[in-house]
Amino acid sequence: MWKQRGVSNACSIGELRLLAKRKLPPGIFDFFDGAAEDEVSLEENIQAFRRLRLLPRPLVDVSSVDLSTTILGARSELPIAIAPTGGPGFGRHGSDGAIARAAAEAGIPYTLSTSATASIERIAREAPGRLWFQAYILRNREFLNGLLARALAADYEALMITVDLPVGGKRERDARNRMSFPFRFSARHLRDFAFHPRWLLAMARHGMPVIENLIGLETQATSASRIASSVGRSYDPSFDWDRLKEMRDNWPRRMIVKGILHPDDADCLAAMGIDAIVVSNHGGRQLDGSVAPIDALPGVVASVAGRAEVWMDSGVRRGSDVVKACALGASAVLIGRATLFGAFAGLEEGASRAITIFADELERTMQLCGVRTVGEIGSGLIFRDSR
Ligand SMILES: Cc1cc2nc3c(=O)[nH]c(=O)nc-3n(C[C@H](O)[C@H](O)[C@H](O)COP(=O)(O)O)c2cc1C
Repeated sequence: MWKQRGVSNACSIGELRLLAKRKLPPGIFDFFDGAAEDEVSLEENIQAFRRLRLLPRPLVDVSSVDLSTTILGARSELPIAIAPTGGPGFGRHGSDGAIARAAAEAGIPYTLSTSATASIERIAREAPGRLWFQAYILRNREFLNGLLARALAADYEALMITVDLPVGGKRERDARNRMSFPFRFSARHLRDFAFHPRWLLAMARHGMPVIENLIGLETQATSASRIASSVGRSYDPSFDWDRLKEMRDNWPRRMIVKGILHPDDADCLAAMGIDAIVVSNHGGRQLDGSVAPIDALPGVVASVAGRAEVWMDSGVRRGSDVVKACALGASAVLIGRATLFGAFAGLEEGASRAITIFADELERTMQLCGVRTVGEIGSGLIFRDSR
C-alpha cells in the first residue's frame, strides 16, 4: 500500500495530502487544509477544473516536450511558481526552507510570505533560486517599508502584494479547533498532540516557530507568543487603489498583485504598470462563495489584453490543471497547499516530489494533447459544447 511507502512513491498530490494528514495533529492539519465558512470555494476551485474537458489533437510527434517557459522575463523550467504561505514551520520545522530549496532545485520561482516561519534573509541564504517577496499590508507603514527594504537588500527580484485579505476569512475549522494564527497552544490541545508524539517532540526540540519577518513589529513584543498575538491585528483594511499606486511608484523592481477576480480591476492594474496579476481566491480561505479563479481567468485575460502577465492559483492539483489554465490564457500557475503537503510529509524530498508529480503529469498531458511546448497550449484544447 502506498501509505506504507515514503514520499518518493506518492503518485499524486492527493496521496501527499494523506501522508501529511497522518503526520500532523488534526487541528494543525485543518489549519493548512481548511478554508472559509462552508468551504464552498475550496471545493468549487477543484470542481471547476474537473468540469473543463480537454480536446486533444493527436498525430503530432511528441517524442520530445519542452516544459520550460518565461515568467517575469526570466526562464522557468515549468509554468509553475510556489505561492506564498504563512506558518509552514507549525506543520513541520524547516518547511519554508525545504520548499524554497525544492523550488530552486526544480528551476521555478518561490514566493516567501510576510507571515512565513523563515525570514527574508534566511531564505535568501538557504535557497539559491529565484525569490519573490509577498507583502501583506501592515498598519505599521514604517515596519512594512523596512520589510521591503530588506527584500531589496536580499535581492528578491519581485514584490507580490496580496489584496484579498483586508480582514481574515472566517475559518470555522480553526474556530472549532480553537486554533488562531499564529498558533497559541493551550492545555486543551494536548490530547490532540498526544496522538502525534513525533510532531510534539519536534516542537519541543526546535521550539515554537516564529513569524520571523515580524519580529520587532511591536517594540514591546519580546516573546514568540507576543509577536504571534500581534500579527492578526496588524493588517490594514484601509488599503486602497491610491496606496497601491504609491507602492508601485516607489518599488523599483517587478510588482505582482495577487487576489484579483474582476476583469475591471485587472484592467486598472495593467494600466497602473503592474507586471503580473494573480487571479486567485486565496485557495478558498477568504471570501467563501467567490468564483473559482479558473472560471474568472478568461475574463481577466481578455481585459488585460497582453499588457501584463496573467497567472492563476487555487485548486491546482494536477498537471492537467496547469494545461487547462494555460489554455485559458494563464502564463503560469501558483501552487499553495500541494508543496506544503509535500514538505509536511517529507521536507525537501516531499516538496520536490510534489513539483515532480506536477512536471510528470504536465509532460504526459501535453503529449496526450499533441503539444510540444508551453506556448503551443492554446484555447482550442478546451472542449466547448456547441449544441
Ligand atoms: C496554509 C495557507 C497559508 C497561506 N498563507 C498565505 C500568505 O501568507 N500570503 C498569501 O498571499 N497567500 C497565502 N495563502 C494563499 C496561497 O498563496 C494560494 O493563493 C492558495 O494556497 C492557492 O490555493 P491552493 O492551496 O489550492 O493551491 C495561504 C494558503 C494556505 C493554504
